[in-house]
Amino acid sequence: MELSKSIYAKTPRLILRHMCLQDVVPFYTYRSAPSVAAFQSWENYTMEEAESFVHKQIAHSPNQPGTWFQFAIALAGTNELIGDCALHTPMPEPRIVEIGFTLAPEHQGKGYANEAVTALLHYIFQTLQKHKVIAFADVRNEKSIRVLERLGMRREGHLLQNYMSKGKWVDEYQYSILQSEWIEMKGGGD
Ligand SMILES: CC(C)(COP(=O)(O)OP(=O)(O)OC[C@H]1O[C@@H](n2cnc3c(N)ncnc32)[C@H](O)[C@@H]1OP(=O)(O)O)[C@@H](O)C(=O)NCCC(=O)NCCS
Repeated sequence: MELSKSIYAKTPRLILRHMCLQDVVPFYTYRSAPSVAAFQSWENYTMEEAESFVHKQIAHSPNQPGTWFQFAIALAGTNELIGDCALHTPMPEPRIVEIGFTLAPEHQGKGYANEAVTALLHYIFQTLQKHKVIAFADVRNEKSIRVLERLGMRREGHLLQNYMSKGKWVDEYQYSILQSEWIEMKGGGD
């Protein structure tokens, strides 16, 4: 299927698209929610940070070694921003990439993260032809762990005191999936 330049993937309920200026307020609103920030690096997220972040992402494109790209997750019917998912393409080995994801609290519990990240993995493995995807989850972040395990990602490690969050070292699980595993799981279809 041919998608417009700013749309990376479509699912029955969602689109993964480039960020746009209208995203600043909803992005700020969910990033500043304490439940969303609980297991993240940021605290007291400000509107200025949101503006700067969205402006940088508008000028950015995915799959640039050494950078993070944030895909907007929007409702297919209204184009409303309900969250984002991230692609980190590291400099030394850009064939192994890292992902992350966030949903606004009022859009959680509906399977949207599973739907969006499934589409993201499809894009990463089929379009970008990456070798392996990894993700890190704070060991206390049960919702994130459930998302990763539902996707079929494997827990590869328990990394002790691997991340500084709210002034404390916290343990993380590392999850991963290989391109070959993804293709086998999805039956090799496009
Ligand atoms: C991590 C996060 C995205 C998970 O969100 P989520 O809404 O729990 O995940 P999903 O959208 O996949 O929804 C799954 C839930 O919806 C339920 N659900 C309801 N309707 C559904 C449907 N039509 N299809 C699938 N699942 C559905 C599932 O049963 C599941 O509930 P459960 O986990 O209690 O069993 C969210 O908690 C978040 O944004 N957290 C803050 C940011 C963060 O910590 N990110 C992780 C960093 S890696």
